[in-house]
Amino acid sequence: MFPSEVTDYFRNQKTPFYFYDLDVLNATLDQIKKHGLSKGYHIHFALKANNQLRMLETIRDAGLGADCVSGGEINRALEAGFAPDDIAFAGVGKSDEEMELGLKHDIFCFNCESLQELKVLNELAGQHGKTARIALRLNPNVEADTHEYITTGLNENKFGINESELDTVLELLPKLENLELIGIHFHIGSQIENMKPFRELCDKANRLNNYIEGKGFELTVINVGGGFGINYDHPNEHAIPDFERFFGLFEQHITLKPHQNLHFELGRSVTGQCGSLITEVLFTKTGQVKNFAVVDAGMTELIRPALYKAAHRIDVLTSNKEKKTYDVVGPICESSDTFRKGVELPEVQRGDIIAIRSAGAYGEVMRSAYNLRPENPSVYSDEIVSAVKK
Ligand code: LLP
Repeated sequence: MFPSEVTDYFRNQKTPFYFYDLDVLNATLDQIKKHGLSKGYHIHFALKANNQLRMLETIRDAGLGADCVSGGEINRALEAGFAPDDIAFAGVGKSDEEMELGLKHDIFCFNCESLQELKVLNELAGQHGKTARIALRLNPNVEADTHEYITTGLNENKFGINESELDTVLELLPKLENLELIGIHFHIGSQIENMKPFRELCDKANRLNNYIEGKGFELTVINVGGGFGINYDHPNEHAIPDFERFFGLFEQHITLKPHQNLHFELGRSVTGQCGSLITEVLFTKTGQVKNFAVVDAGMTELIRPALYKAAHRIDVLTSNKEKKTYDVVGPICESSDTFRKGVELPEVQRGDIIAIRSAGAYGEVMRSAYNLRPENPSVYSDEIVSAVKK
């Protein structure tokens, strides 16, 4: 994964920075094409996972659309060259300005999450002389079997329209004349590795599809969201998620009517494994009971361990000494600023380079301004290839 010329290149860069391996990204996109796009599925990339322009351009070139959750993301998607017709806008709290931006660009679809949102969007669309295409985000009440902070499809979660409100919404819709209902939308959570919740989602989606079409609506879009997990323990062996299994499950269990298309919104599974956070060891410390490796990246660069207790694999790129047990910690004055506790790594010293793996999704995008830390530009694998050739 990190040949010596790559490590040498890293040594000369200002750390910490994100590194993206475009070969891994392209190989991932090839699998998505092979098992998803080739079946006629529409796949939108969730920009919330990664919004770097180079990444987005590569993803757009592969034929994916964009799934956005803010006006900022809509603008970024447009900047990356996504056609407005390939942009969907989701989110439980869209501001008037953001909805107006979507209307101005005639984006493909607004995924709407509440009765009030529908009324406001209808009003804004009327004011601008537009018809907004919408999908109803329905809360399927499916247990996603993942971290409680990233499960989204339960009745207790804030997302989507609950079944108890559905009839009221369907009765109201024909009166909202500036809205055109084109589909239904679900998203049950993220980092889901077990296929059972997706299987359950298929059953609920089929039932709700029949129910709504039975009321005389025509749904062309059946959007089952994202959520497919990646292997954080073995990013080399499982660099590419098993898309055959994922899309195959939906192919088998979603019943589409002839006029319907299946849509997905994938984030983590597209960009997660191609990104690493590269950091340098500043100091090593032997505490009373522990050894610490203090690195120059912190929770400000990658918050997932602090926020979700996420365990990202750590590779030491510049040492193959005997192993020692470390707590790998950052420079921020918070105890939660810890990447791993009690992890066995080759012995490190000041100046060693470390890669924190599987950081291509929800890594760089969740960077914070806390402590006003430097923002070093990300590095792409093809830059290294051309630098080595020179
Ligand atoms: N669609 C909707 C409506 C979503 O809310 C999300 C993610 C996605 C699609 C993409 O899901 P994915 O395929 O990436 O699982 N920051 C957390 C993850 C939050 C996910 C939020 N929604 C983390 O670092 O694990």
